[in-house]
Amino acid sequence: MKKVLVVLAHPNFEKSRGNRALIEAICELPSVTIHHLYKQYSQWQIDVQAEQALLIQQDLIVFQHPLYWYSVPPLLKKWMDDVLTFGFAFGQDGTALKGKELMPVITTGGLPELYAAGGGANFTISELLRPIQQTATFCGMGYKTPFVVYGFLPQELEIPGAITDEQLFQEANRYRQFLQHYMAG
Ligand SMILES: Cc1cc2nc3c(=O)[nH]c(=O)nc-3n(C[C@H](O)[C@H](O)[C@H](O)COP(=O)(O)O)c2cc1C
Repeated sequence: MKKVLVVLAHPNFEKSRGNRALIEAICELPSVTIHHLYKQYSQWQIDVQAEQALLIQQDLIVFQHPLYWYSVPPLLKKWMDDVLTFGFAFGQDGTALKGKELMPVITTGGLPELYAAGGGANFTISELLRPIQQTATFCGMGYKTPFVVYGFLPQELEIPGAITDEQLFQEANRYRQFLQHYMAG
């Protein structure tokens, strides 16, 4: 069975609605490891050797996080800077990640139409994630289509189009089914 590492980057996971529901749906799957960066590294001192040792055991590496300013939360960026080093992830002998796959799993405040072509955010999620896609490519990894769950707006505002509990439940199931299918393949 294929192995999946979910690198979870949420600075405020206790207050999370979206990422928490997604994690609850997948946390008991066999051969899925949840790696909660903000819990593991509350002082931001990343153990590079431990992270690299963890990465080489995996087939699929998921970057799961809320979209923060159209990008990743800062500890995930630091993790990339520290862990994806010359000689490990790139460079002549840096082939440790070659042939593995990377998939972003993102929650957004914005509704889908904000990120549609011509929408208010000016760019689609795929366009905004180009640095992640190119990082994967540069490291010799495959890049999987991002799994995006939109519309996490304050529920008390009752904004039309905001994700409902029922829709979130369905998306969380879809995430679990995707990983189950991937691991069996
Ligand atoms: C610092 C910060 C920056 C954010 N930037 C964006 C953004 O660029 N685009 C967006 O759609 N939502 C943005 N949001 C909203 C979050 O993405 C949203 O609250 C989150 O995905 C909901 O997931 P959660 O329930 O797991 O926290 C931002 C929220 C915070 C706190």
